[in-house]
Amino acid sequence: MNKASKASRAEAEVLAELRPGQSVELLKELHILTREGRLNQDSRRKLKQVYHLFQFIEKLLREVPGEGAEASLADHGAGKSYLGFIIYDLFFKQGGAGHVYGIETRAELVEKSRALAARLGFDRMAFLNLTVAESATAAELPPRIDVVTALHACDTATDDAIAFGLAKQARFMVLVPCCQAEVAACLRETKALALSRTPLAELWRHPLHTREIGSQLTNVLRCLYLEASGYQVTVTELVGWEHSMKNELIIARRTGQRKASAAERLRELLEQFGLTSLLETRFRLA
Ligand SMILES: C[S@@+](CC[C@H](N)C(=O)[O-])C[C@H]1O[C@@H](n2cnc3c(N)ncnc32)[C@H](O)[C@@H]1O
Repeated sequence: MNKASKASRAEAEVLAELRPGQSVELLKELHILTREGRLNQDSRRKLKQVYHLFQFIEKLLREVPGEGAEASLADHGAGKSYLGFIIYDLFFKQGGAGHVYGIETRAELVEKSRALAARLGFDRMAFLNLTVAESATAAELPPRIDVVTALHACDTATDDAIAFGLAKQARFMVLVPCCQAEVAACLRETKALALSRTPLAELWRHPLHTREIGSQLTNVLRCLYLEASGYQVTVTELVGWEHSMKNELIIARRTGQRKASAAERLRELLEQFGLTSLLETRFRLA
């Protein structure tokens, strides 16, 4: 095979893996395609992962009235905003309506995302240099947001994203939590008392276990809080997300029915683990 036909075969292979109308330029910018517009083993895996997450979110967007054509989505702890860009490219670009907001504290990433969106003509994307907590009351965002995403938003940024979703009456929240240190710190503080009270405290006696159980407990508390706040929750694994140990996918769907039993369980768990102070900060029950 000569050089030219090799090149056109490689190009055909790449196009076969892309969706119709998908921006090759965007994929290059996100390093999903190489500079030459090719896929290598690494980037093929990356593309598969991104599609996998996109599929979950696309299904939810289609449930927003009007098949989601005018939906709004806020991505928290956006980083380089590759999730927001992919969603915009594959879902919002064609329709001519709908908005994607990326919220990120690192100013240089916000600037880069703004420049990339301008270059690609993605004019219904906005990038806000704010913390997740600040964004809940920021004038740049509408009073209601349909879908909230937070992919590996650091530490308590996931909790802030949940608070944001509640304030904006989000129809859906898609959360892949990162490590969380707040609950582990509280467990550490009350450890001696807990050990004197219950053998269960053995579960978090060793520092490594304090961190692990803190992280597990955090996600359990988040799920109960969402249920107590009118959401139906499913927890699955983000399969194929090999590059990260943190692959718990929490999807919350607004039903408006606050589950009293979840609120009760949340209170009981906080009590058992010596964490009732979180009722005044993280888990404010109605
Ligand atoms: C691990 S990165 C994940 C980025 C992106 N979501 C992804 O999955 O590729 C977490 C990002 O969240 C940002 N971040 C951390 N805490 C934040 C907060 N409280 N508000 C807004 N952004 C935050 C960090 O600057 C960082 O870019």
